[in-house]
Amino acid sequence: MLRRKSLAIGLRALHSATSVSAKHPKPLHIPVLLEEVLENLNLNDQSMVLDLTFGAGGHSEEVLKRYSKSHVFALDRDEQAFSLAKEMSAKYSQRLTPMLGKFSELHELLQAAGLSYGEINAAIIDPGCSSMQFDEPGRGFSLAYDGPLDMRMDGNRNTNQPTAADVVNHLSEEEIDMILLKYGDERLSKKIARSIVENRPIHTTKALAEAVGNAFSYRSHMIGTDAIGRRRHAATKTFMALRIFVNDEINELHSGITTVGRYLSDKGRLAIITFHPNEDRLVKQALNVKDFVKLPTCENSETKTLGRNAIWTNLHKGVILPCKAEIQNNTRARSAKLRVAVKNMTTDASVKS
Ligand SMILES: C[S@@+](CC[C@H](N)C(=O)[O-])C[C@H]1O[C@@H](n2cnc3c(N)ncnc32)[C@H](O)[C@@H]1O
Repeated sequence: MLRRKSLAIGLRALHSATSVSAKHPKPLHIPVLLEEVLENLNLNDQSMVLDLTFGAGGHSEEVLKRYSKSHVFALDRDEQAFSLAKEMSAKYSQRLTPMLGKFSELHELLQAAGLSYGEINAAIIDPGCSSMQFDEPGRGFSLAYDGPLDMRMDGNRNTNQPTAADVVNHLSEEEIDMILLKYGDERLSKKIARSIVENRPIHTTKALAEAVGNAFSYRSHMIGTDAIGRRRHAATKTFMALRIFVNDEINELHSGITTVGRYLSDKGRLAIITFHPNEDRLVKQALNVKDFVKLPTCENSETKTLGRNAIWTNLHKGVILPCKAEIQNNTRARSAKLRVAVKNMTTDASVKS
């Protein structure tokens, strides 16, 4: 692991860490590892930047402010984030192109925006939920508030997408166990899955937290500690696992990295922040992949190598972590890890836009 960045960098980040919109005077989300991301992207005044996780636009806005003729293509699957991106676009003379969609829809959105492979100089992926999503009880992401057990980042955009309530009320005990184990690294997945099934139907975040709590023999539902020593609720990992499952976050991330690999220019850079071991494992593997492959489909069971178009070089040996000052100011930064990779074109590129 890289040594922690100096306090000075953290303090600079604190001062610029204010994703404020004209209509929302309070910061909606504090961008994580802002200075570290920007100083690793090798940007200039002409840079074309792809922000795959616009959120409240903290990273995007800093690019627009610092690089006078830069252009940001800003993606988010959440309609509220998309509205904020439209506000920001107006504020910066259309130097930002807002795009509403998921990582798996990015290729089509970039094509519609008139981009071809190799035209982007730098990309940022800061996945998971924004504070706006966590702090809105109606979205059902947080244990801290009672609300409907929803957790869909897309909201009602895709009415076929199951909510977290659909998952806990309709999947089998074994399937719930698997989700908790795989996406939450939850050691007590079996016990919790059983308790969830016994407490059905579950329609609210509070009811889910109670169902999980019932799986434990302790009177208090606060167990263990998090990365900064705070007591953790017994249902923390369950909430995370369900959110990852509902939003198909791991496959989405894989898809995002693959598409970025195609649209980055030679020596273009990708900064990815991860927040939990599942994400970090995937990112580590994806950045070591040398070939573009077409995975088997229902129609064709072959795995086909499309070409050796992009090869990532990791810029640092390990990960960059937030400094203490940043974590003190923004506890959501506590589990963040930043990886930065450079794309190298090879001469036998065979994948065309
Ligand atoms: C941690 S926030 C990003 C915060 C942002 N960097 C900032 O400084 O304001 C993550 C955002 O990514 C979005 N997101 C997560 N997964 C996504 C996906 N697969 N496709 C598109 N957007 C996604 C979420 O909706 C959320 O708004």
